[in-house]
Amino acid sequence: MSSKDDILNHPLPKHIAIIMDGNGRWAKSKGKIRAFGHENGTKSVRTTVESCAQLGIEQLTLYAFSTENWKRPKLEVKTLMRLLISSLKKEIKTLQENNIRLNAIGDIKTLPTKVYNELIHVADATKSNTKMTLNLALNYGSRDELTQMVQKIGEKIKNNIISSEKIDESVINQHLYTRNLPDVDLLIRTSGEQRLSNFLLWQIAYAELYFTEVFWPDFSDEDLYKAIASYQKRERRFGKTSEQLN
Ligand code: FPP
Repeated sequence: MSSKDDILNHPLPKHIAIIMDGNGRWAKSKGKIRAFGHENGTKSVRTTVESCAQLGIEQLTLYAFSTENWKRPKLEVKTLMRLLISSLKKEIKTLQENNIRLNAIGDIKTLPTKVYNELIHVADATKSNTKMTLNLALNYGSRDELTQMVQKIGEKIKNNIISSEKIDESVINQHLYTRNLPDVDLLIRTSGEQRLSNFLLWQIAYAELYFTEVFWPDFSDEDLYKAIASYQKRERRFGKTSEQLN
């Protein structure tokens, strides 16, 4: 068992990213349709966001809809978009009460207008909140992000705004959807799958990876504490040796 108190006695990850997986299988295991899984997934979103804020996590990034998720059946995409709008409308109060800022990452301009408008509205209303930033990855894909970054920098080189010799990691960071965010410290994926699915590939270069069998709708505070406790036991060497760290 990993209690909240144990976790608070050790350094916390500054930035947690989560691949929320297993909604469909969770619903299937209960003889229900996939939409039921997504609806229950929103409950785990709510509890995880609140718990991370209460623990003092500074950045939480959730993979809510990928650039590849458009390939799902039309009705499922519609359900996910509907859930997003209703969650944003419902949770704006919780975000304000918990001093949480909402930030969207991804190619959000091509989302349905209603989703886009609600996102901008909530992001704007919460922009001065300081306790935690909730980054919602929507229409997000790492390959798309890296492609757009190269295009933006290429355009600046063409217009003599920057010279190619000046391109370094910080210039690249500033042209990603995640500009101004610190690197991910802990990446969690639920549902037993062990892959990255085009999520934050640049930003997780030195992240600790944590995989759990638990389906996303069942992901509880206890599961979150377990993931953080596992992170706290690891030695992060960033390319150095153990001896150099001591
Ligand atoms: C993966 O489960 C989950 C998603 C593709 C979307 C996650 C969305 C939510 C939790 C609901 C809305 C989000 C917010 C932020 C309010 P899956 O469908 O891939 O499950 P499976 O692998 O078992 O089929």
